[in-house]
This record gives sequence, structure tokens and C-alpha cells, in this order.
Amino acid sequence: MPIMRAAYASRFDADNPLAALGVGDRPEPAHPDSDWVTVQVRASSLNHHDIWSLRGVGLSADQLPMILGCDAVGTDPEGRQVVIYPVVPTPGDPRGVSILSEHFPGTLAERVAVPRMNLLPLPAGLSATDAACLPTAWLTAWRMLTTKGRVDEGESVLVQGAGGGVATAAVALGVALGKRVYATSRDAGKRERITELGATALEPGARLPERVDVVIETVGAATFDHSLKSAAPMARIVVSGATAGHEPTVNLRRVFAMQLEILGTSMGTPDELTELLGFCAEHEIHPVVDSVVPFSKVEDAFTRLHSGDVFGKVVIDHTA
Ligand SMILES: NC(=O)c1ccc[n+]([C@@H]2O[C@H](COP(=O)([O-])OP(=O)(O)OC[C@H]3O[C@@H](n4cnc5c(N)ncnc54)[C@H](OP(=O)(O)O)[C@@H]3O)[C@@H](O)[C@H]2O)c1
Repeated sequence: MPIMRAAYASRFDADNPLAALGVGDRPEPAHPDSDWVTVQVRASSLNHHDIWSLRGVGLSADQLPMILGCDAVGTDPEGRQVVIYPVVPTPGDPRGVSILSEHFPGTLAERVAVPRMNLLPLPAGLSATDAACLPTAWLTAWRMLTTKGRVDEGESVLVQGAGGGVATAAVALGVALGKRVYATSRDAGKRERITELGATALEPGARLPERVDVVIETVGAATFDHSLKSAAPMARIVVSGATAGHEPTVNLRRVFAMQLEILGTSMGTPDELTELLGFCAEHEIHPVVDSVVPFSKVEDAFTRLHSGDVFGKVVIDHTA
């Protein structure tokens, strides 16, 4: 059976997810349908989703071993440079779709199979490593700000836990959209880097100079009360993750008195990814990259993401 190198969940470990990571030979990706194609991966990036998978969140034991990775840029069978849209039709899933590495093998491999309609052209002016940051974290942040958050002229944005992939994307995109952006981080070094991106950095829980119209929440229990307190009347609190706990206490009086909207969101549409690719290429936006790690050292990349010290995306170079 033809084989390729891949990084995969070999088992689940809720307490020590890094111990569940396997790196080694896996079978070439199969094509569940005739419209699927195989892409040679050039660059990918890690997401907290990969850590959740190693912990056993969103996967079941009968799906193991599962190749990890949601994001990739690569070369299609016709030799074109493509960005992969990672949301795949999945009839058995209650959502009707799944993200690569949930039902179908992910992108942390030499090759990945996807439906042909999930391939978008890599725009001129975007490198493979930059574009590999966009399909999950940056797409999520783009949808949070635009479609869900409906951030408007003259409005302001608060981003919680600004070191993460989604959060740094929301800061960079919010600034590029011309909004006043506030961002919290527990770490003084990260607060300094947030300031360099053009946002106002704050310690977690700090009082803001104004109430904001859109809150970008990926932290959850540790920050949600501050998100509620910082929200202006009619504000939108958009939630796409809960790294620090998914069961916060919610002050409902504040929700109805301030007429707040709490909106859940996940990933984005192919059209939103096309918009985002165009926006980044046009405005010469380079995703915030924490580090680029060769695939031969993919374990180090996971260790770095798991440490929580990252600022921006951890990218994997599959050509090295
Ligand atoms: N729904 C979707 O489509 C989607 C897509 C992408 C990601 N996500 C989810 O969004 C979340 C963020 O993922 P990510 O990969 O961008 O980043 P991440 O690695 O989960 O980091 C998020 C940030 O959370 C903050 N944080 C972590 N623990 C904290 C705590 N105890 N108290 C306060 N802050 C804490 C940290 O900020 P500081 O160190 O700066 O304080 C960290 O940089 C994850 O839960 C992920 O599953 C969802």
C-alpha cells in the first residue's frame, strides 16, 4: 500500500495531548467520491483544533488514527497553486459538514484529498506560508468581524486573549478595516506586540476607555464576564471558541438590559474565504506568524502551540 509521512492522533490523552501525537507513515489519502482530488501540500498551519483532537474532543476512538491539520496550501493535479477550503460535505454529521481531520484525513501530511470545489487559487502576492494561515483561524476571525459582528463605520472592537491564532487575526483585520481595536492578553510581551499591530493593549479584565460594539471571544469562561461588561448597548459578542472553559457564568440582566447579541460561529463560507484572500492580497496584509517549522520537526510545532506562548500562527513548511 502506498504510504506518506503524516502527523496524526494515535490515541487520545485529555491531560497530556502531546503524548497522543504520532508522526510516521500513513496510507495515501483515498477519494470518497469521483470529484475528489489529491493535493501535494506545500505549507500548513496548526490550530488549537489539533490539540482538541489529541485530547479526544470531536473524534471517536474508531476514527483513530486520524491525520491532523485543517489548513493547507499546495499544488493540485494540474500543477496549480491552491488554497484548500477545509469544510467538507459530510452527510453523516449533524452539521452536514465537517472540517478536515474530523471525518476525513487532514492536511498535516505529504498529500491530502479534498473535493475539487474546495480548491481556491492562491492569489498573486500571498506566499504559501502566509496563505496557509488563512483558511481556519483567519477565516473564522473575518466572519466574526464582518458577517456575524457586522462591524460598521466608526465602531470599535474588543479581542480577548490576543495571542491566539484567531485573536491575532481579528486584531490585524480589525485594524486593517479601520476600526478602533482593543485587545487583552495576560502577557506583557504579547501586549507590546499587539500595540505594534495598531491596537490598544490591555490586561485581562481592565476597564476600556469606551464600551465596544463587537467582542471577539475565543477564550470563554476566563474572559466572558469582562466581554459582557465591556459591551455597548446593542453590541454583538461573537464566540468561536472556549479555550479556557465553555461554561461561563452569564449575567442575563446585562444581556437583556443592554440588548446584547451573543452569536456563535464556526469557520466561514467559501465566498468569505475568497473575500479574505482578496482583502489580504489587496491590502498587503501578512498574517501574524509565530514561527515556521519544517515538517521534519512537526512535534516541536505542537509543543510550541501547546505551551500557550505563541503569538500568531505556527506554520509548517512541508518542503523542508
Ligand atoms: N469555531 C471555529 O471555527 C474556530 C476556528 C479556529 C479556532 N477556534 C477555537 O478558538 C479558540 C482559539 O484558538 P486559537 O488556535 O486561535 O488560539 P489558542 O491557542 O486557543 O489561544 C487563545 C488565547 O486564549 C488565551 N487564553 C488561554 N487560556 C487562557 C486563560 N486561562 N485565561 C485567559 N486567557 C487564556 C491566550 O491569550 P493570552 O496568552 O494572550 O492571554 C491564548 O493566546 C480555540 O478554542 C479553538 O478551538 C474555533
